[in-house]
Amino acid sequence: MDIRFEKREQLKEKPQDESKLGFGKYMTDYMFVMDWDRGEGWHDARIVPHEPIPLEPACVVLHYAQETFEGLKAYRTAEGKIQLFRPEMNARRMIHSNERLCMPEFPEEMFVEAVKAIVRVEKDWVPSAPETSLYIRPFMFATEAALGVHMAKSYKFVIICTPVGAYYAGGIDPVKILVEDELVRAVKGGTGFAKCGGNYASSILGQVKAEAKGYTQVLWLDGVERKYVEEVGTMNIMFKIAGEIYTAPIDGTVLPGVTRDSIIHILKDWGYKVNETRLSIDELMKAGHDGTLEEAFGTGTAAVISPVGELAYKDDVVTINDFQIGELSQKLYDTLTGIQWGKLEDKYGWTQEV
Ligand code: COI
Repeated sequence: MDIRFEKREQLKEKPQDESKLGFGKYMTDYMFVMDWDRGEGWHDARIVPHEPIPLEPACVVLHYAQETFEGLKAYRTAEGKIQLFRPEMNARRMIHSNERLCMPEFPEEMFVEAVKAIVRVEKDWVPSAPETSLYIRPFMFATEAALGVHMAKSYKFVIICTPVGAYYAGGIDPVKILVEDELVRAVKGGTGFAKCGGNYASSILGQVKAEAKGYTQVLWLDGVERKYVEEVGTMNIMFKIAGEIYTAPIDGTVLPGVTRDSIIHILKDWGYKVNETRLSIDELMKAGHDGTLEEAFGTGTAAVISPVGELAYKDDVVTINDFQIGELSQKLYDTLTGIQWGKLEDKYGWTQEV
């Protein structure tokens, strides 16, 4: 792929204190952009200054939300190398999201090449403080100006980057989660498995309700019976009950997380029985009360491994592992991030040097 480079006149000042990066607050100097037009396909790959993108007010994405996105990270190792974690998984997931949203395919090799190209240009933005990385956000949206509801004739694929620390303000400290018993996130046949902006837009009301009650996040139940545990929205979720791991299956309503998949691999490698099965909220709360719910943790690119210290469902509340980081959650965090930051041997072949 030929990538045109447009230099910016002045580079931005980088954040001084890498321990206070937060999540998605600082944007790097450049972005990758490519256009798709019907009859022409993908064309005009370029790395240009990160700046506003002019949009026609009638463009499809602003009205009908035809948009998909991805999230992955670049990590700086102790030797100063920069590496990506399973970028091909993000490329493939975006292909599936785009299929569902009726958007053009962005081929896997092109996706990985584009990610590597922008990270190479922004290598000085990859932070080196502990627990930090460069979050990479590829996204695609319909640009055609047309108010009829159909597949658009033009799209843009863009990658922006932002140096980040922990997604949650408390880092790996346990979070409090509210089980949403009224609103739903996804139903089979819908877009639950796709990474599209619309899923996140419809989750914000639940998030606002949860925050008003002092909770960090929402745990979504299935959209039909509001009975089975699905995901948290910004992360998949796993439970350790009586020594076995439980997590919702990938069958149309749950996001197929790259971290979820990696953690399942590691857990199986360690000899754990991983049940990718429907778990009812009643069984889960019961396990919370009878002491068999040993640990709960979210998994996600942004969230990494996020232990859950409290679950609230209707009037019932359970505290998990005395609100402490569980032994398994900590070991998974150390192993996963050890591979990502190059501190541990990558025996799975998941990392790629940029
Ligand atoms: C990610 O983990 O990369 C995500 O996309 C979650 C994001 C919505 C914060």
